[in-house]
Amino acid sequence: MSSKAEAIVKQRYATAAKTPEASLCCPVNYDPNYLEIIPREIIEKDYGCGNPSRYLKRGEIVLDLGSGAGKVCFIAAQLVGAEGRVIGIDMTDEMLEIARRNAPIVAKSLGYANVEFRKGRIQDLALDLELFDQKLRKHPVTGVNSFLAAEATSNELRTTHPLVPTESIDVVISNCVLNLVSPDAKQQLFPEIFRVLKTGGRAVISDIVSDEDVPTELQSDPDLWSGCISGSLREDLFLEAFERAGFYGLRILERAERPWRKVKGIEFRSLTLEAFKGKQGPCFERNQAIIYKGPFKEVLDDDNHRFERGKRSAVCDKTFQLYRKAPYGELFEFVEPMTEIPLVEARPFACSANALRHPKQTKGQDYQETSAASQCCDGGSCV
Ligand SMILES: C[S@@+](CC[C@H](N)C(=O)[O-])C[C@H]1O[C@@H](n2cnc3c(N)ncnc32)[C@H](O)[C@@H]1O
Repeated sequence: MSSKAEAIVKQRYATAAKTPEASLCCPVNYDPNYLEIIPREIIEKDYGCGNPSRYLKRGEIVLDLGSGAGKVCFIAAQLVGAEGRVIGIDMTDEMLEIARRNAPIVAKSLGYANVEFRKGRIQDLALDLELFDQKLRKHPVTGVNSFLAAEATSNELRTTHPLVPTESIDVVISNCVLNLVSPDAKQQLFPEIFRVLKTGGRAVISDIVSDEDVPTELQSDPDLWSGCISGSLREDLFLEAFERAGFYGLRILERAERPWRKVKGIEFRSLTLEAFKGKQGPCFERNQAIIYKGPFKEVLDDDNHRFERGKRSAVCDKTFQLYRKAPYGELFEFVEPMTEIPLVEARPFACSANALRHPKQTKGQDYQETSAASQCCDGGSCV
């Protein structure tokens, strides 16, 4: 299954764009308020397995991978509001046709237009397939020389007119599509999601995962593959793929208790995952510490920092700032140094040391202050 798998997937969704296919519909609970302005022909072609749009915020720039008829994009458009933007990517013309035809209808009901649909393959988000198609029509491939020229054109387009530029997206979402990408192309898919996200951005992905390895004979079944079953990654490997691409702070937001389908004893269920981009970068010493609040005795993060419950761990400025935000903020107490070290004066910090921070380091070696107890017994607040 590779380019053959892609052709089968395209064919199946071209047909499913014209006539709703019940076997592709996994039951999902959407907030009915957001469905009111979405035309019926889109609602009928819901081939998702989760609802990543639930986790979006106002003003965000969102990229939906494998947007299909556009339902999740049109829900996202309402959640991010007029100040946000939504881009849907799909490779199937018939799906793009429905989504693009309905975009102005949804925009009219909303009073603003913030959704667009682009043609591309989600494992190659730099290549604009419509621009490439225009070039190929002018210079068709007729032999090896024109083939090589076409390859050079595609590379040039990726640089000069990227379909989705590097670091341009706040949130990448996807609903039941990653499993459809062929095994070879999956290697390229996760780094591509990472590339297009801004530092500080996140991916929220709903997909079908398996509880056991999927045997090759099931993977070669075109119906099971294009039906979002046998291309599924084993659930732990699904998370690992994001980790390997450089994401941190991975969390399972939802995991269906009941499988959507079972094939030869293997369970296939919906899972929604969140993963963050932004742990890369230099580490500087500013005498900051964080205290892991529990409930576990100790935890290990994606950079192998080990935090023991209740202890002051020495961290670099990057980790200190990162941990103040989601998904970590609630899990830690943050101890600032009494005298701030300006970033420009800060020395490099050895992040791998897993050192504890003595309070004297935070307060200063000469700190000798003595104070009276806070006045909290008169009905006022102690803090
Ligand atoms: C299962 S449907 C999901 C559609 C939509 N996300 C939804 O929730 O209804 C899969 C969609 O992904 C598209 N697709 C599959 N593989 C793709 C790929 N490699 N690149 C771009 N689109 C792809 C198909 O054309 C189809 O529209």
